[in-house]
Order: sequence, then structure tokens, then C-alpha cells
Amino acid sequence: MVSKLHAFLAQQLGHPSGIWGRLLLRLLNRENAGMNRLAFEQLAIRQGDRILEIGFGGGSLLARILATGLPKTVVGLDYAEDALTVTQRKLWRYVHSGQLTLQQGNASHLPFPDQQFDHICTVNTLYFWPDAQTVFQECYRVLTPSGTVVVCYNTKDFLEQQGLTQQGFKGYEVKTVEKFLDEIGFQSIETFSRQDSSNGQYHCTCGKR
Ligand SMILES: C[S@@+](CC[C@H](N)C(=O)[O-])C[C@H]1O[C@@H](n2cnc3c(N)ncnc32)[C@H](O)[C@@H]1O
Repeated sequence: MVSKLHAFLAQQLGHPSGIWGRLLLRLLNRENAGMNRLAFEQLAIRQGDRILEIGFGGGSLLARILATGLPKTVVGLDYAEDALTVTQRKLWRYVHSGQLTLQQGNASHLPFPDQQFDHICTVNTLYFWPDAQTVFQECYRVLTPSGTVVVCYNTKDFLEQQGLTQQGFKGYEVKTVEKFLDEIGFQSIETFSRQDSSNGQYHCTCGKR
């Protein structure tokens, strides 16, 4: 019974859906606040920036970005329909004003032309990608020259302790994420680490196109 619940929760984290998925998205906004704050701080947003968040879930990082009043446009991409529904409701005024576009889609095939964004951020999503290098290549393609990518993730140890790698989550060491970005051509690669009571230690790896 416990293992079935665990498997259900793991599956919902990767693709929230239905009533439990919508509840989970709200809970994630609270539990992942520290990780999203760290990602936000690394974005260094400037007036007129165009920003993409991949896997926005309950929309807390999008809300933080929009509240600065700085970006020209913000786009959220998530493949879970319920993430779009929950976040559209939460941030309807930005959607209405045209500052925020929410789009359903897969990180492996970003549905955008080349060199569209000044920043791309993604938090707690890396574990679900079948091929992280493909996603980073896509990020490189849609970033403007000198645009930045910000990737925030739990440690591999934390995922193992929580029994999530056993449920198919892919855990990465910092050096592996940095190597992926380096091989694609990102520069000024740096990782910042922090910890809190919800997520233990976590990392935020950043690179410049
Ligand atoms: C664990 S939730 C994290 C949500 C939020 N970023 C946070 O930190 O609270 C993962 C989110 O990424 C989305 N996701 C996972 N893989 C994806 C992919 N390949 N393409 C688009 N969205 C994806 C899921 O639908 C879900 O909303």
C-alpha cells in the first residue's frame, strides 16, 4: 500500500494531473519556495528581458518574475494540462495583459524559433527528462547570444534517500550537469548550492550562451 502511494506521488510529481495533481501543485509552491528563490536570484532580470520557464508547475517562480515588473514577456512551458489550468487561474491578470503566455509542450522539443529568450529557468524538472542533453541543446538554440540558462535541482543523494530514483527519477551530480552545459557550448558555468528543511541541499547550475 505504502509503495503504491509512493509510486503515485512520484508519478504526480513528474506529471501532475486531476484533483490530486492540482493539490500537489499548490503544495509544491510552498515546499519548493527556497529552490525557486535561488533560481530567481540567479536570473538577474533586466528591463525588457524575454524569459522562459520550463516546467513551471504551480507557477510560483513565474509569479516572482512577473512581480518585478521588468520583463517584456514571460513564457511558461509545461506538458501537464493541469499545471496550465492552475497557473492560468493564479496569474490571470498577467495572461490577460499579454505579459505572460502559458503553453503546453515538451522540453525536448521547445516550440520556439531560435534566439527568442534572454533567460531560461527550470526548477525540479531535470529528473524527468529522458535526455537532459537534448533539452540543454534546445535551451542553447532558443537563447539569444549571451542569454543565460538557470537549472535548479535536488542532489542525487536526496532523491535516493526519498526513494525517488527507485521510482524512475534521474539524479545528477553537479559535475555532470556542468559537463552537459560545457559540451553544448555554454560559458561562465557556475553552481550555487543551498539547503533548507524541505529539500535538504540543492544546487543551481547556471551558464551563459
Ligand atoms: C516537480 S514539478 C516542479 C514544478 C516547479 N518548477 C517547482 O519547482 O515547484 C515538475 C514540473 O515539470 C513538468 N515537466 C516535467 N517534465 C517535463 C517536460 N519534459 N516538458 C515540460 N514540462 C515537464 C511537470 O509537468 C511538472 O509541472
